[in-house]
Amino acid sequence: MSIRIEEKEKLFSLETAHTLYQMKADETGVLLHTWYGAKTDTDMSYRIRTVNRGFCGNPYEMQNRFDYSLDTLPQEYSTDGVGDFRPSAVQVSLENGSRSVDWRYAGYRLLKGKEKPEGMPGLRGNAETEGIEIRLEDSAGGLQAFLTYWLFEAQDVIVRSARIENRGTGTVRLKKAASVCVDFPYGKKEVIHFHGRHAMERMPERIAVPRGGRLAFESRRGMSSHQSNPFIILCDPDTTERQGNCWGFMLMYSGNHLEEVCEDQTGNVRVISGIHPEGFEWQLEPQESFRTPEAILSFSAEGMNALSRNYHRIIREEVIAPRWRNAKKPVLINSWEATYFDFNAEKLLRLARSAKELGMEMLVLDDGWFGRRDDDTTSLGDWVCNEAKLGCSLKELTEKIHEIGLRFGLWFEPEMISPESDLYRKHPDWAFTDPDRLPMIARRQLVLDMGRKEVQDYLFETISGVLKSARIEYVKWDFNRSIANCWSHALPEDRQGEAAHRFMLGTYSLLERLTEAFPEVMIEGCSGGGGRFDAGMLYYCPQIWCSDDTDAIERIEIQRGTSYGYPVCTMGSHVSACPNHQTFRTVPLETRGIVAQSGTFGYELNPEKLTDAEKETVKAQIRDFHRFESLIEGGDYYRLETEEDYTAWMSVSPEKDEALLSVAAIRVRANGLFPFVKLQGLDPEKTYCREDTGEKMTGAALMCGGVSFQQMMGDFPCTQVYLRAWNNE
Ligand code: DGJ
Repeated sequence: MSIRIEEKEKLFSLETAHTLYQMKADETGVLLHTWYGAKTDTDMSYRIRTVNRGFCGNPYEMQNRFDYSLDTLPQEYSTDGVGDFRPSAVQVSLENGSRSVDWRYAGYRLLKGKEKPEGMPGLRGNAETEGIEIRLEDSAGGLQAFLTYWLFEAQDVIVRSARIENRGTGTVRLKKAASVCVDFPYGKKEVIHFHGRHAMERMPERIAVPRGGRLAFESRRGMSSHQSNPFIILCDPDTTERQGNCWGFMLMYSGNHLEEVCEDQTGNVRVISGIHPEGFEWQLEPQESFRTPEAILSFSAEGMNALSRNYHRIIREEVIAPRWRNAKKPVLINSWEATYFDFNAEKLLRLARSAKELGMEMLVLDDGWFGRRDDDTTSLGDWVCNEAKLGCSLKELTEKIHEIGLRFGLWFEPEMISPESDLYRKHPDWAFTDPDRLPMIARRQLVLDMGRKEVQDYLFETISGVLKSARIEYVKWDFNRSIANCWSHALPEDRQGEAAHRFMLGTYSLLERLTEAFPEVMIEGCSGGGGRFDAGMLYYCPQIWCSDDTDAIERIEIQRGTSYGYPVCTMGSHVSACPNHQTFRTVPLETRGIVAQSGTFGYELNPEKLTDAEKETVKAQIRDFHRFESLIEGGDYYRLETEEDYTAWMSVSPEKDEALLSVAAIRVRANGLFPFVKLQGLDPEKTYCREDTGEKMTGAALMCGGVSFQQMMGDFPCTQVYLRAWNNE
């Protein structure tokens, strides 16, 4: 049984394969967080000691216990305004003006059979998935909190969310509702967060949680953002890729989010993650409730690589739609960097023919095929093919592409509207704009108020119309600006705090309807590259364009950062032309191929411009990709440690009988060091044969002693080594 309940002690122990998550309601009904970490079968509340710390008040019923304070106890879902002065999980404004919430334990219910939350993405689970719902009550405020925990034993994952219900008689304004709050009593901690900007997403930074301080990682851009991914890792100071305790917190949400990490005066570290409270206010009438997005929690005592693999498994197995779980993805050619807005059918057919000759399998027609769009100033919202520009209909074009032997994909940016569009002329109030204020413009576009049903219906009808009009097997779903002026013309003034979350719910609802109506059409997520690379989008889009920076050397870092939380099979990655369009750097085609292969592989260039030798290299890359595809996309991924001039990563098959190592030189020196890499994840007992040299070595030697190479010379060289378990017979 993975959930143990000791009724008398009100002790709840939630076990996965290697972890224990534990909480306990104490004698006053406060739900204490007692443990999240390695498995034990002990009541871990013995670690909680109390002493009068001064200036820490006591709950009324404990007024004679000066040592007992909400300000110092580790809590499961923290209170507000009643004596815990640390960040709260929930903030409210009650009808009488009170802003206090004081949770007390009120009961539990065992759950079996997980379904995703209505209207939002969530882990899929099945009829056997077990969970528990704990009910907390704030009797004076008439509020109840239902904390839900689902256990994914094999992946060492616990999924948390909360539902806040108004059981009173007046209106409640919910100002903050975190998905998760976890207290870690005792022990210095560090945090890894993933910051960045456009074309430089998910750069890991590791920082110590300051004594008595508070760190906040956030997005208030209406999107999960390039700047701060909704995923953080908390770890012990001595934790490395290979060893040590680490805890992941991943919010399954694509909108505004906030992750708070703070250390209090007693050394307790609190992590809170959820929808960003700034700008958020949800009105709850009596009997109404608000459900938070799910948060995916995982713990590993074996370092960061092991934690990442827990996330890779859970995303592959429980987030991505079953239809796409183990599906082979087509090697595609995307028209964007090949033609930008400058194309017609003839040019696209030439592109398709040359791509087909090299072994590519799908042509994705990017931005510019609709309305009157020849640059980025017009037509978003007018999802009607520009036949005058193409010189034929979309149906005719796709038929010809299929005749050539390629499948076909098409770009959309559904949530946007150009002021210069028929849609805007007809429905200016469908865009988010403040009353009496000129809106912020970005890329000459505004954002649609996706919370409105009529907007969702319009998009469903027009996108469905396009998808039915021609043979389209793939959609690239873009999102190219942050949301400002988040004011809905459809909501009353006192409900404007709901607009940003309603936007996200509207987008999810549209994605839900489209994926149901067109289950065979694969949607690739995109937001100016990886501005919405999160578990929420992955629920609908099995892969996401990782970054608008297609420079292979930059991509190594971006994909490595992304790999902390997300599996390789979700990272859209293409070989692009050189000099690269973003950095103007020239990187060998071989290196570009190896880097793009460590994602969902494709091309973003004009094959007609390649030399004959380059064409042969591309053909070989595509053959190699197909050879290693299941190993790369379905294997266990490891970030490897190297000398500072090199970077390396590898994939190992689940049976540990094959592995693919990639090593790139970021800097080549005249008299440099030999690349030298200690492998991971192999079977120490097995003997492996190295394909390039024929050498045979045990897994133990490869992992302890490592693999060595001749020094690589030239600009940004990269090499790949395939290892196969070798059987004497
Ligand atoms: C941003 C995307 O990331 C690019 O790949 C491309 O689709 C452009 N938008 C098109 O506008």
